[in-house]
Amino acid sequence: MKDDLFCPINIEFVTKNELEEVLLSYNEGSSISLIVSKDMSKWLKLTNVIDGMASRYDFTWLDENYANPTHIDVINGVKKIGTKPEKLICIGGGSAIDLGKGISALFDYISSGNDVPDDVSEYIQARGYADNANTIPIIAIPTTAGTGSEVTKWATIWDTVSGKKLSVDMNALYPAQSLVCTELTMTAPKKLMVSTALDAMSHAMESFWAKQTNPLIQDIAMMAVSKIHKYLPLAVQKPDDYYIRSQLCRASILAGVAFSNTRTTASHSISYPMTMMFGVDHGFAVILTIAQIAKINMSALPEIAELLAIFESDGGLQEWLDKVTDDIQTLRLSAFGIEDDDIDKLVEASFTAGRMNNNPVDISKEQVRQILSNIL
Ligand SMILES: [Fe+2]
Repeated sequence: MKDDLFCPINIEFVTKNELEEVLLSYNEGSSISLIVSKDMSKWLKLTNVIDGMASRYDFTWLDENYANPTHIDVINGVKKIGTKPEKLICIGGGSAIDLGKGISALFDYISSGNDVPDDVSEYIQARGYADNANTIPIIAIPTTAGTGSEVTKWATIWDTVSGKKLSVDMNALYPAQSLVCTELTMTAPKKLMVSTALDAMSHAMESFWAKQTNPLIQDIAMMAVSKIHKYLPLAVQKPDDYYIRSQLCRASILAGVAFSNTRTTASHSISYPMTMMFGVDHGFAVILTIAQIAKINMSALPEIAELLAIFESDGGLQEWLDKVTDDIQTLRLSAFGIEDDDIDKLVEASFTAGRMNNNPVDISKEQVRQILSNIL
């Protein structure tokens, strides 16, 4: 299919006690850097284990909030870490893990004195890091069930100065290990739980129809969509139910494995400017257009009907989405402050290479305009 490995990651499902044991199990004196915000470490009740790590290891801690990390966050992170560590432990939603991947890929370049933001942004765009054989191994510990960053080899880094979405992307950025702990994900507020689960649903659906899909990926994707369809409404009703949340974690990993092999398509491509220009949560931004994209893609892949059949008893995919987000987030552009006049600039920025052209059906600017007008 291509030169990539299917899933070269040691994925372990652990309890919180087991997670803490792993975090304190490395050799004494190991040089370890941790990425998790101070606030999150308190919510997750990880303060004691972090104190233990600080006394056991040669330890640095990037403890700020890193939502949607930028190239400047990567530069500052490398400088704060100082000496290259043996491991980078990243605890958080997609953002902490993405920042870790950015630091891993660019550590040597930035620590050699290349710390001018514009130069770093250009270096990322030119994939100057691609031959780096000395990336830092990443231990990824997700705190949400959805982004899939713990099982992919790429990360989104935002250049907010020039308004560009950058990505680092190479086999060496697959995490060495992913530790999936349901208890950590249970601290996510309900709205974040829903948006991240919908991100996972979008990963699964887009991997089902991506140009590089195959029958195995489609089966994995179907399983992920079925689980989210079954368990997300239950999790909204009972957010403290461990079993239900563990099923969302499993669905998220399945979706992550699926799209790590195919990449995403039109819905993710159209979502990026919504997030960049209007701050729309990633999960809501991608799911806003998924039902329309599914319909368009059915002309190329009739088997999408099987995927949509999961939602038959709900009246359809869009009806299910509207129901599961009821009282949490209205899935219309206007609910995010986006107006008719904004559509042209969204359309212009909707065509991300590697995403839009990974859609099985070519989508024109006029179609994107129509898709966005339909959800105003
Ligand atoms: Fe996503």
